[in-house]
Amino acid sequence: MKDLPIIALDFESKEKVNQFLDLFDEPLFVKIGMELFYQEGPDLIKSVKSRGHDVFLDLKLHDIPHTVGKAMEGLAKLNVDLVNVHAAGGTLMMMQALQGLRKYNKNTKIIAVTQLTSTTEDMLHNEQNIQTSIEDAVLNYASLAKQAGLDGVVCSPLESQLLTNHLGVDFMKVTPGIRPQGSAKDDQHRITTPEQARQLGSTHIVVGRPITQSDDPVKSYQIIKESWLS
Ligand code: C5P
Repeated sequence: MKDLPIIALDFESKEKVNQFLDLFDEPLFVKIGMELFYQEGPDLIKSVKSRGHDVFLDLKLHDIPHTVGKAMEGLAKLNVDLVNVHAAGGTLMMMQALQGLRKYNKNTKIIAVTQLTSTTEDMLHNEQNIQTSIEDAVLNYASLAKQAGLDGVVCSPLESQLLTNHLGVDFMKVTPGIRPQGSAKDDQHRITTPEQARQLGSTHIVVGRPITQSDDPVKSYQIIKESWLS
């Protein structure tokens, strides 16, 4: 798997994706989420992979264990580099997801979403009725993901250090909420720069709008890539 910033391809069609990818003459690591996958399906994944890019298929599966396991058997055949589930589905669901994936695929990594970065402590306490801090709730879900045999989690870069301390450096911490110095926060709240994320122990960063909405996406990507790899 490439050690590159993962570009969130939050576009509504394959035409827009291809226009964007045509700007680059190097292999990338991209994230395809539900918005795009529900419109364009597996064909888009095959086409992006055939251009030499790594793919994180961000579908955040969350259902009963049997259904998620069977869904993963299907996704395994797409040969993407990274897939994910919601840790809130439980240990058994995560184990069956892993089992389904491994039935047809030995290489794809699988991680769990802990608490969405859009979840506030108020929502955690008053809607989910979880009476701990966000950090403890994230650590709890991440520990369950590790016990289930998963490769890591999606979390905020501000939680990466805590998770590294408890679960080790090799446990993947894939972190959105990344903004280069001086760029718009958009709707993200708990953000860091790419170099701060690296220092805090993130193993991968996910960056969308600072690249996709930039006047010069290639230049913005290069700046983020350099600061991530430095
Ligand atoms: O444009 P931006 O850099 O904010 O994009 C971040 C990407 O990461 C989006 O695709 C968003 O859906 C995703 N994401 C996130 N927070 C999470 C999980 C995924 O921002 N907790």
